[in-house]
Amino acid sequence: MLANKRILLGVTGGIAAYKCAELVRRLIKRGAQVQVVMTDNATRFIPAMTLAAVSGNAVRTSLWDEQAELNMGHIELARWADLILIAPASADTIARLAGGHCSDLLTTLCLATDRPIAIAPAMNRLMWSNPATQDNVSKLTARGAQFIGPAVGELAERETGPGRMVEPAELEEFCAAQFGEGVLAGQHVLITAGPTREPIDPVRFITNRSSGKMGFAMAAACADAGAKVTLVAGPVVQPTPPGVTRIDVETAEQMHKATLDAAPGCDVFIATAAVADYKPGFAADSKIKKDAASQQLDLIRNPDILADLAAKHPDIFSIGFAAETDDLQTYARGKMQRKKLDMIAGNWVGAGKGFDTDDNALWVAWPGGEQELGPAPKGVLARDLVALIAKRQAAATEQASKDNSA
Ligand SMILES: Cc1cc2nc3c(=O)[nH]c(=O)nc-3n(C[C@H](O)[C@H](O)[C@H](O)COP(=O)(O)O)c2cc1C
Repeated sequence: MLANKRILLGVTGGIAAYKCAELVRRLIKRGAQVQVVMTDNATRFIPAMTLAAVSGNAVRTSLWDEQAELNMGHIELARWADLILIAPASADTIARLAGGHCSDLLTTLCLATDRPIAIAPAMNRLMWSNPATQDNVSKLTARGAQFIGPAVGELAERETGPGRMVEPAELEEFCAAQFGEGVLAGQHVLITAGPTREPIDPVRFITNRSSGKMGFAMAAACADAGAKVTLVAGPVVQPTPPGVTRIDVETAEQMHKATLDAAPGCDVFIATAAVADYKPGFAADSKIKKDAASQQLDLIRNPDILADLAAKHPDIFSIGFAAETDDLQTYARGKMQRKKLDMIAGNWVGAGKGFDTDDNALWVAWPGGEQELGPAPKGVLARDLVALIAKRQAAATEQASKDNSA
């Protein structure tokens, strides 16, 4: 997928710059052409010579290179690239890009390009969560830049949190997916994941055991298959998969709104979230005291995200998940028919099964067919399910065009 693709790798001043040699080596091995541009500060972390040797191309480190600029080299570079990947991206470079600065070669060519820009941040966790950085990330995302990570883990300063650069192997897969001949290349997939929280008062809520692992595995598998992925996530502790746009929500109502707002233009909808069916009819503004001997909690129905989306967007290929403790196939098929879905993935839940486990097994059905997947780790299962979704979606599209021409 990367054969002869031209990747311009921007390297900026952070500790993770040392991983770039490995990244370049991997991209070259996949057949890509790699041209490295380093900021001045990046050269303090890794010598340009190392990246020149592994990329097979002279590394550019300055805008003020008389020889290269005889032919407006920075514009040439901006045009040459099929993809600009900045890894690691420092907080400073992210800020300069968000501000539209062109104070060095890398920011100048980013401003002078119409090619896709992907950014893999790497920094201290507080630098990352600082509102200034988050504002810059939002601005760049709104302008179409894709953020890959950061990953959560141990940082150079021996703290733990979000800020690690995504590993070279994952960046390599991200690049490959951008030129995707993946089974979902060119598709926009919308996914919900995790549980919802329904407030009782400011400190208490109703929720369920969903960890979001399956939904996040589906998001990663769809991105690996070349799709643009929007993930609407309930409250979970899961790192965002590379290349996935994540929208965090808490309640079923927030998830309903975020999902329906994101739906126009999507091709596939995968509802893995364990959305609370009911919420307290009344959420107290202040903490409820334990004065009374007993308490009554009145529950009212939450909106049905899957049914509403399938009804409003019949053109979107919609897949539901059914988590059941009994009679899985009957309930799952019933849900598919009732909500007018294109496919349903049923899984057993209960002690040690389904929720918050690393492995899972699915019984997948669609009008006129069924297939079992797993047991397998959720990542493997997600990949197999994505392949099946792509196959069924292609078959459904073919059938629809036959019906239209009949
Ligand atoms: C030892 C050391 C490590 C650093 N690591 C990072 C880092 O991981 N991420 C980051 O955003 N800045 C880091 N910085 C700060 C940047 O190098 C600094 O903000 C610089 O201006 C970035 O320049 P550039 O974006 O033009 O490469 C580090 C600085 C030092 C001295």
